Amino acid sequence: MAGNSPSRTIERLIIREAKVDDLDTIHSIELKCFGQDAYGLALLQIYQVISLNTFLVAEYEGAVVGYVIGTLEARGEGHVVSIGVHPNYRRKGVATALLNEVINRFNARGVRIVKLEVRVSNFPAINLYRKLGFEITGIVEKYYSDGEDAYMMVKSL
Ligand code: ACO
Ligand code: ZN
Repeated sequence: MAGNSPSRTIERLIIREAKVDDLDTIHSIELKCFGQDAYGLALLQIYQVISLNTFLVAEYEGAVVGYVIGTLEARGEGHVVSIGVHPNYRRKGVATALLNEVINRFNARGVRIVKLEVRVSNFPAINLYRKLGFEITGIVEKYYSDGEDAYMMVKSL
């Protein structure tokens, strides 16, 4: 919608599949988002191959500003492996757009349940997931390398 009303949502945001040429930029965003916990370029390359059409980027004015990695698990469950948005582009609906698209793509492939893990202290992300209909279904103790627990969150499609 191209209205004149003020909006924090970025218009003309493009959500598309990640290409090999995007991986360096994705990695730099990942480092800003996760620091030491970033997956690293080699793992991103593997996900770019195995994720089929559920490793997505958000592109704004020609620049990649966010990404989401989704994988289809053996039991037919969708898994949101990682999502990150460049700090300069947050609170504009980028992550929401990425997640909605990955969920649509999972749905089109017959997925009925989407899962993810999130640090119990990560309020921005937990808020985001709740807003999109995910619910906390459990805690995975010491899921992260620094000993922090994860919430398991699930959305039924
Ligand atoms: N504080 C509180 N609520 C927030 C915040 C925040 N800082 N950020 C997002 N939300 C909630 C709000 O409800 C928001 O709606 P509103 O802006 O209308 O209030 C809603 O989420 C949607 O926000 P978006 O604009 O779509 O989210 P954004 O593009 O800013 O990206 C993200 C959110 C991905 C969590 C971003 O802050 C980020 O990259 N963080 C660092 C990386 C990270 O923590 N990733 C998730 C780890 S878990 C995993 O990957 C499975
Ligand atoms: Zn996970």
